[in-house]
Amino acid sequence: MNWNKWVRQSHRWLAIAFTVTVIVTFVALAQEEPVVWVSYVPLLPLALLLLSGLYMFALSYAKRSGRSAARGR
Ligand code: HEM
Repeated sequence: MNWNKWVRQSHRWLAIAFTVTVIVTFVALAQEEPVVWVSYVPLLPLALLLLSGLYMFALSYAKRSGRSAARGR
């Protein structure tokens, strides 16, 4: 598997992990005595999503700088 494919795959699974941590945060904060520290947990997958997402974003433009730019792809 090449590097770009690996980054896209990681982004996809991180999106699922991030969603799960957000749901867990909702539950934790809805308790009678909210467990506030849990609300910081989504920040880790979100930070990794940001990095892998920006990488893919940059990549889509880097690809266009070649001959394919003229073909509009
Ligand atoms: C935090 C900043 C984020 C950035 C900069 C970002 C950026 C990107 C980019 C550039 C793509 C590729 C789009 C394409 O195909 O051209 C992508 C795909 C995707 N992103 Fe993000 N993203 C971010 C956060 C998230 C979050 C929070 C989620 C969901 C919880 C998410 C879920 C996805 C999914 C599911 C894909 C499709 C991946 C695939 O199956 O190929 N992203 N994102």
